[in-house]
Amino acid sequence: MSTDDCTHDARTLEGAGVVVVAAGSGTRLGADRPKAFVEVGGDSLIEHALHVIAVTGIGEVVLVVPADRVAHAQEMVELETGCGCVHATVVAGGAERTDSVAAGLAALPPQTEVVLVHDAARCLTPPEVFTRVVDAVRAGAAGVVPGLPVVDTIKVVDERGVITATPERAGLRAVQTPQGFAADVLRAAYASATTATDDAALVEALGHEVVVVEGHPHAFKITGPADLADAERLLAQMR
Ligand code: C5P
Repeated sequence: MSTDDCTHDARTLEGAGVVVVAAGSGTRLGADRPKAFVEVGGDSLIEHALHVIAVTGIGEVVLVVPADRVAHAQEMVELETGCGCVHATVVAGGAERTDSVAAGLAALPPQTEVVLVHDAARCLTPPEVFTRVVDAVRAGAAGVVPGLPVVDTIKVVDERGVITATPERAGLRAVQTPQGFAADVLRAAYASATTATDDAALVEALGHEVVVVEGHPHAFKITGPADLADAERLLAQMR
């Protein structure tokens, strides 16, 4: 494929790079391969994620996969980005998600201004969410995360399962990816990193403001078999 026959968005989110973390084992899915390599609607989660990213116009991608899957992932990347609109690198991840993000961050070009970190497990996140996040970082936010209001009442419990607090629901958001940051801020956060379940938490710990922009229901995380079935249904509807 050449640039001439490619259907990707010509608008490049210039200066933005995305780290796609896909190095989890996905034991909760119970599949015979790492979660990001499982297929839904005929393509792996990685391929879906790369396809969406190409549409956003982001030109720089680092894909982080289990060490024994680097060669396989490289083949996928070459097929998805053969038009030349996207420059993609594949690197090996680590034991924790934070290790995988750190490996991806190290492989991004130093001139990258806005870094997005995206879970391959949220592979159906629409392009508009990427654009919203990059635009908010460009508007001056140190960190930006997409999120949705929560519909359940959330309880805080102690180690015995006894409720210790009931936070006001109106002030809660369920956050998704891609999470976006000014590159220097995220690099500083990772230089002093402990582990966290999302990248925003590391940036918040440095005292930076992280803002929530509107997420999307399709940005749900594929974790168990029921999520995979939801993704299958959604893809069938979208075709
Ligand atoms: O395990 P969980 O679903 O929360 O992981 C979120 C994302 O982080 C997934 O896309 C997964 O592949 C990735 N991950 C990773 N390296 C790890 C653990 C998780 O890249 N060690």
